[in-house]
Amino acid sequence: MNKEVEKIYKKKVKEFQKHNKLYYDKSTPAISDREFDKLKADIINLEKKYSFLRSSKSPSDSVGFKPSKNFEKFKHKVQMLSLSNAFDREDLINFEKKILNYLNEKIALEYSAEPKIDGISASLTYLNGNLTYGVSRGDGSEGELITNNLKTIKDIPHKILKKNIPKEIEIRGEVFIEKKDFEKIKDNFANPRNAASGSLRQKDPKETSKIPLKFIAYTFGFISENKFKNQSDFLNELKSWGFLTSDYNKVIKSIDDLFIFHEQFEKKRFDLNYDIDGLVYKVNSLQLQKRLGFTSNAPRWAIAHKFSADNAYSEILNIDIQVGRTGALTPVAKVKPVNIGGVVVSNATLHNEDEIRRKDIRIGDTVKIERAGDVIPHVLEVDLKKRKKTQNKFIFPTICPSCGSKTEKEFNKITKKFDAVRRCTNDGYTCNKIAIEKIKHFISKDAMNIDGLGKKVVEKFWDLKFIKLPQDIYNLDYQKISSLDGWGSQSASNLKFSIENSKKVTLDKFIFSLGIRHIGIENAKIIADFTKNIKSFLNFLKKDKIKELINIDGIGETQVKSLEKFFQNKTNIKVVEKLSEVLSVKDREVKRKGKLKNFSFMFTGKLQNISRAEAKSLIEENAGSIVSSVTKKLDYLVTGEKPTNRKVEQAKNLGIKILTQKEWSDLLN
Ligand code: IVH
Repeated sequence: MNKEVEKIYKKKVKEFQKHNKLYYDKSTPAISDREFDKLKADIINLEKKYSFLRSSKSPSDSVGFKPSKNFEKFKHKVQMLSLSNAFDREDLINFEKKILNYLNEKIALEYSAEPKIDGISASLTYLNGNLTYGVSRGDGSEGELITNNLKTIKDIPHKILKKNIPKEIEIRGEVFIEKKDFEKIKDNFANPRNAASGSLRQKDPKETSKIPLKFIAYTFGFISENKFKNQSDFLNELKSWGFLTSDYNKVIKSIDDLFIFHEQFEKKRFDLNYDIDGLVYKVNSLQLQKRLGFTSNAPRWAIAHKFSADNAYSEILNIDIQVGRTGALTPVAKVKPVNIGGVVVSNATLHNEDEIRRKDIRIGDTVKIERAGDVIPHVLEVDLKKRKKTQNKFIFPTICPSCGSKTEKEFNKITKKFDAVRRCTNDGYTCNKIAIEKIKHFISKDAMNIDGLGKKVVEKFWDLKFIKLPQDIYNLDYQKISSLDGWGSQSASNLKFSIENSKKVTLDKFIFSLGIRHIGIENAKIIADFTKNIKSFLNFLKKDKIKELINIDGIGETQVKSLEKFFQNKTNIKVVEKLSEVLSVKDREVKRKGKLKNFSFMFTGKLQNISRAEAKSLIEENAGSIVSSVTKKLDYLVTGEKPTNRKVEQAKNLGIKILTQKEWSDLLN
């Protein structure tokens, strides 16, 4: 799966590069601005979702900037290497062991512990105190000469005014953007690091100065005469020379204490003004550093102790209640932004009312947040030690925050319990939040698949009152749209094209797009097969007919009740009728070729490792058909666990072949 994502990502980055070149170098764009922006956004979204994706050619690193060949190259006098990583106590113990082995001495080591700022490193060469060369890291041996860009950063002194400074000294540190500044531009970049990198490599230093960059100094490269004893002395000196150094730098005397420092830091890093992804420990004695030297790519005397890539602590600033398409109220914690494995997290789902109660989550709490893979960031636990007396229990709203309707928890007849989820009882278009979500569902890929109309656009058009009900999509004023900010005649006509294209739709997708609760894509197919065409589907709006659906396999009481409720609502009926006028709804497409062609199947009993819906899809993908009752038309009855005896008996009587799940899957393979 990761491989596939990477393939898609790389393809998009390549395409982006091509158009970027056309746009900026040759000024002859081949695609519209909107398409170009969409491509950029796709790449950035992929990077946000999958933190392992990274490319130096990504738009988040290079949007709108001339490629690096536009900067003069500059060879570093001393290579700019990276650091090896430690993730746990064992790695730290090994780190120290290797050092002592190398020195072949039993000495007590002292470390300079420093936050590992997640920005990009830069090197500043001062000749007789004057900033002469500012260089990016580049590939470590050779960087780009970006002196003028670096000079726009206020934290970088152009002159060191102290006496007795080395004739030549190269000071290294991290260029970064503060969290509060990143908040303002976060839609354009995957994380603060990318934002800093992009801004720094602008061709025009004026552009660099537009994004407020910061610089924290932490080491030296080449130095003509070195009178410092310890790294910590050097850091103090840097401060007195007018550089910004981290307030959190600390001298620590044992691995155990480093470990404790790391643990404490992990719980407070969200409170820092800038992003850090770990701590750096450096042997404090510069003399020992010199003896230890470097391996091929990292110093022996330093290590980066990384923070976990899938969880982090942060503080809950507020709890928002979001209302979903089916009225479900989902509490979402707004937290102080924290970088988890390369992605800045500022929202974490709290799932539902019960979850908040069970974990006793309150506004102001320090919580552990997990963000792993594609899973939405969620709160794992509360750090109760940090709880203050003034923090009250969170009271979950009993009315819908969007429309003010009553909310309720449904009673589940099967589990004999009330649902964990609280819902707004207004499931129609009169609850604004529900309505917007319904429209987002309507345009989504598995529904009407209007790809030119994204979720953000729906929200914008909603605010502008262009779209209040699904049918409004087919009655848009493109003239008006083309004059909106960020739009033009080309993008408006692209949108029109994509909307017109969506008008031809199959009945199952149409039914699914209505967003009726409990009617997912599979149930929509079943209903489409049963009702056959749009005309007879419209007849079903009469609720006495809906009950007939209960006879089909797969449709149960829950679905029928939901359908009845849906069609009791006058707006819903109007929506369906209006849509059926503007759309051209075709019968469902049935696959014409496949190894199960001309064979019909029916399932009874519980299947192993596969849902009923998926099993049915598999049959359809192979051109087989599903029937809903045991009649002569049935070819195979597939039996899972605890099949309905009556169905098996009927099948036997009619001489229908009965298959176990294994036999059925053998048939497919
Ligand atoms: S010292 C020879 N100190 O981490 C290594 N690096 O993975 C010299 N970084 O390229 C680096 N904070 O961009 C050092 N306090 C700190 C740092 C730090 C962040 C970055 C730097 C370096 C990378 C190494």
